[in-house]
Amino acid sequence: MRHLLTVAGRVPRASAIALVPSPAAARNEALDVRGEEGWLSLLTPHILPLTDMQITNLPTPALLLDLDRLEANLARMAQRARALRVALRPHIKTHKCVEIAERQRALGASGITVSTLYEGQVFAQHGFDDLTWAFPVPLTRLPQAQTVAQGARLGLVADTPDTVAALERFGHPFHVWLKVDCGYHRAGVDPCAEWSLELARTLHDSRVLRFAGILSHSGHAYHARSRAEMAAAAEEERRIMTAFAARLREAGIHVPQVSVGSTPAMSVVERLDGVDEARPGNYAFYDYTQTVLGSCAVTDCAVTVLASVVSSQPGARHSIVDAGALALSKDTGPEHGPHRTMGEIFEDYDRGRLRADAHLISLSQEHGVVSARLPVGEQVRVLPNHSCLTAACFDEYHVVRGHEVVGRWKIWRGR
Ligand SMILES: Cc1ncc(COP(=O)(O)O)c(C=O)c1O
Repeated sequence: MRHLLTVAGRVPRASAIALVPSPAAARNEALDVRGEEGWLSLLTPHILPLTDMQITNLPTPALLLDLDRLEANLARMAQRARALRVALRPHIKTHKCVEIAERQRALGASGITVSTLYEGQVFAQHGFDDLTWAFPVPLTRLPQAQTVAQGARLGLVADTPDTVAALERFGHPFHVWLKVDCGYHRAGVDPCAEWSLELARTLHDSRVLRFAGILSHSGHAYHARSRAEMAAAAEEERRIMTAFAARLREAGIHVPQVSVGSTPAMSVVERLDGVDEARPGNYAFYDYTQTVLGSCAVTDCAVTVLASVVSSQPGARHSIVDAGALALSKDTGPEHGPHRTMGEIFEDYDRGRLRADAHLISLSQEHGVVSARLPVGEQVRVLPNHSCLTAACFDEYHVVRGHEVVGRWKIWRGR
């Protein structure tokens, strides 16, 4: 069956886009709930044969994914994990995209990390059979989690005695990770507290649950002002996690796995002795925040938003583009950047040069306010502050090599 994609009621200028069903598409049909041909085509993820489709022909706003950069980022982190002798369980919340996770798996990923149960459902249906839902499990979702766990190894996360008690009462033999606070102070048990050890013991001794190990996220690495500070946060996470694991083992509690991770930490960490796996996510794309932190170069950033200038009035000192908060998110970006920005604009994407004279200064739902007067119709390529939140604003990536659009991949958003 062939579908023609029409965008806003018309066929895109360069060519009609032929959507050819692929094995991946066939697998997805069961997931599609709308079933109308037009929408089915939008929901179907696979590389599409596009004839001479250039970036400049795309309707805006569009989410561009640079395939060469993506592949280089994935290969670099896979290599780093091998060098550090840890398994890599990428957090797919960054991309929510089956085609990207398949590449991560081909590069040796041991499993994947998900942020929503919907991601868990979708990726399990696409053959990913080892998943960690790295979010404190909401008790309202246990029946659905059980369904996913029947088709895949699903690890859940808990950090509260009441949650563990509820999981035991629920009665399904879930794999459960104990979340540990390693300095971020968001979620996770205090590794020094007595009750943390007792909670680990409850999981370990449970006749219902299977203790998966201890898990942390070094989100505080995002507060670093230098690579040295990022490395210190990474080492703090490693030290706290291995010390806690040792404390549990001394108390007779078998700890199957120690899992850590964030992109800044994994970009600089020098050793991960005592750690079994790492779960970075953002490294697939990077973003402006990561460039300021020093996790990557601007030329590593794989995701940009293509936007058009839609308003630029005589006498004004600003202009408006069609990429607002629902294209870029309202992430305020790096804490220690050279200036406050809601998104940087490329002067030269290939060379990784950002414009010094224009960036996004504020965003409302669909409007993006640019700090300079650019001509109406000009297309700009925006480097988002936070690529994970940006990707979650879109239904699909336009996959590009250079200036050519070579495919469209679905973004599986949902809770
Ligand atoms: C629990 C957990 N693990 C891993 C990650 C991945 O971190 P990053 O996005 O820095 O790669 C996150 C990100 O928020 C997370 O919340």
